[in-house]
Amino acid sequence: MSFEIIGKKSLAEGIVEMDVHAPRVACSARPGQFVIVMACEECERIPLTLVDWSCRDGWIRLVFQEVGVSTYKLGMMNVGDRLYHVVGPLGNPTHVEKFGVVAVVAGGVAIAAAYPIARAFREAGNIVVSFIGARTSRLLIYRDYITKISDEMHISTDDGSEGFKGFVTQLLEKRFAEGFKPNLVWVVGPAPMMRSCSVVTKRFEIKTIASLNPIMVCGMGMCGACRVRIKNEIRFTCVDGPEFDAWDVDWDELIQRLSAYREEESYALKLFLESRKVKGG
Ligand SMILES: Cc1cc2nc3c(=O)[nH]c(=O)nc-3n(C[C@H](O)[C@H](O)[C@H](O)COP(=O)(O)OP(=O)(O)OC[C@H]3O[C@@H](n4cnc5c(N)ncnc54)[C@H](O)[C@@H]3O)c2cc1C
Ligand code: FES
Repeated sequence: MSFEIIGKKSLAEGIVEMDVHAPRVACSARPGQFVIVMACEECERIPLTLVDWSCRDGWIRLVFQEVGVSTYKLGMMNVGDRLYHVVGPLGNPTHVEKFGVVAVVAGGVAIAAAYPIARAFREAGNIVVSFIGARTSRLLIYRDYITKISDEMHISTDDGSEGFKGFVTQLLEKRFAEGFKPNLVWVVGPAPMMRSCSVVTKRFEIKTIASLNPIMVCGMGMCGACRVRIKNEIRFTCVDGPEFDAWDVDWDELIQRLSAYREEESYALKLFLESRKVKGG
């Protein structure tokens, strides 16, 4: 239970991989679940996906992007430091069975979150066809891990520095138009990207599961911060999800709720970065 950081690696600019000693979480973790991390006692609670774990050695692996004060603070911690708290595993595990051909689609830092899912689908006997996309080639984190457990790999970059030039959902659409028809699509990434994916898969009538990432606070169904509208009913992502049928999600509302505190978040980050400069950090 010490939550000591036992490994830290920079995967790309602003993207950190961190291994944390958390044996109880490691021994009950399942693909698709997440933890809530507090870097220090007065720090915010941040949900992060379990990317990997070892029950035998008692560690969990997290990959996060420094986007605001809390993730910056976490990124400033080093091997030997202890996190104040790690709660989990939270959320429902991914439903894994033999579907046939499964397309795993991931964008940006969420590519790491797709890794345990793609691996679990493969271990269940599915043919896994992975589609990963990022702004530019150096942000294609976890590409090697995913390639190893995929039967087919498709890569896109917004700037064309590697693979298909354009969004990963455009690449998926192109493959569908060429006749590729998986039995299931599983998607994770920024909400607008998952919305586009859902539009494409609906047109081609391919069932799609999306792993949602709304703002979360408690992580256990009490605060309502993570509420999402699914088929016109309110559900809490932390306890009812994080995965839902992508066609049932009210994407516009989710995207609007994600930006609800944008002004306050950027102001807090500005103050935080300025205070670091003053302290010479
Ligand atoms: C179930 C779940 C799993 C997640 N797994 C990961 C993960 O493995 N790796 C990772 O890097 N991030 C993950 N996230 C997102 C992560 O929790 C947020 O990036 C983090 O809480 C931001 O905190 P902050 O204080 O640093 O930034 P804030 O100041 O809160 O926000 C800074 C910027 O990031 C945006 N933002 C805030 N929260 C989210 C969010 N939930 N999703 C997308 N954008 C957001 C804000 O709109 C703002 O523009 C996950 C979120 C959920 C709900
Ligand atoms: S985060 Fe509080 S109800 Fe889901």
